[in-house]
Amino acid sequence: MEIFKRSSDMREWSDQMHRVGETISFVPTMGYLHEGHLSLIEKGKNISSSLVVSIFVNPTQFGENEDLNAYPTNIERDIELIKKKGANALFLPDKKEIYPENYQTYISLEYLPNHLCGISRPIHFRGVATIVAKLFNIVRPDAAIFGAKDFQQLQVIRQLNRDLNFGINIVGSPIVRESDGLAMSSRNAYLTSEQRQSALSLSQSLLKAKEMVESGERYANIIKSNIRNFIDSFPYTQIDYISICDPDTLNELIEIDREFLFALAVQVGKARLIDNMLIKPIS
Ligand code: PAF
Repeated sequence: MEIFKRSSDMREWSDQMHRVGETISFVPTMGYLHEGHLSLIEKGKNISSSLVVSIFVNPTQFGENEDLNAYPTNIERDIELIKKKGANALFLPDKKEIYPENYQTYISLEYLPNHLCGISRPIHFRGVATIVAKLFNIVRPDAAIFGAKDFQQLQVIRQLNRDLNFGINIVGSPIVRESDGLAMSSRNAYLTSEQRQSALSLSQSLLKAKEMVESGERYANIIKSNIRNFIDSFPYTQIDYISICDPDTLNELIEIDREFLFALAVQVGKARLIDNMLIKPIS
């Protein structure tokens, strides 16, 4: 596996791959890999003839009081895992390579960031859109794979890809869960064993919401307040949002009359956790 730290070397490799007729799948990550990331890598391998992974903890997507400095890393372990999975190249830039002195250009979307996580993390999606656009320009992939746990991120990237004509096949990959239902996340590393029990309230909420809809409840507010009480009954939890929204626009629904996204963000101890599920009412 090739490891590139410079954008120009990464791009040269990709251009050479394209010249000899290879296609490239790309899995961008912030490292500290778990089974969720590995499932993205596997998916990428099935789509294209070669695969590039990147690891870069992108500072511009973290707010001032967020966990940039605490974000877990284990580069040696990550490299071994990526190698074992059969990736062809790893892009591993440092901060200066991506944001050199006098860096000035950022990408902001008009609407999608004004919902869900974007409300309490106002600069987050500007940072995500900027780094993903830069990585797309450096790696020049044919396909890029993103996890559905970050559903809003996936929609932001699909929009970015359309709006800026990248022409990349953006592939969403299902959420990977621990055996007890907890969605895999690098941030799960922050949880104590007691907090981990409380963290299960997120995945359990998805099932509860689904059950309510299946038994005929159609008022979003009733479901939300039921779930709010449920999560509040667990120690260490602080709800950021509970949303029932249109999966494309992310606008909140009042009445459930079509497939919707049930999404939530909850602070559990030091970990800000998110989870979601697409739910279809049975008519
Ligand atoms: O989902 C992530 O790990 C990050 O937001 C991404 C897409 C790698 C951009 O930094």
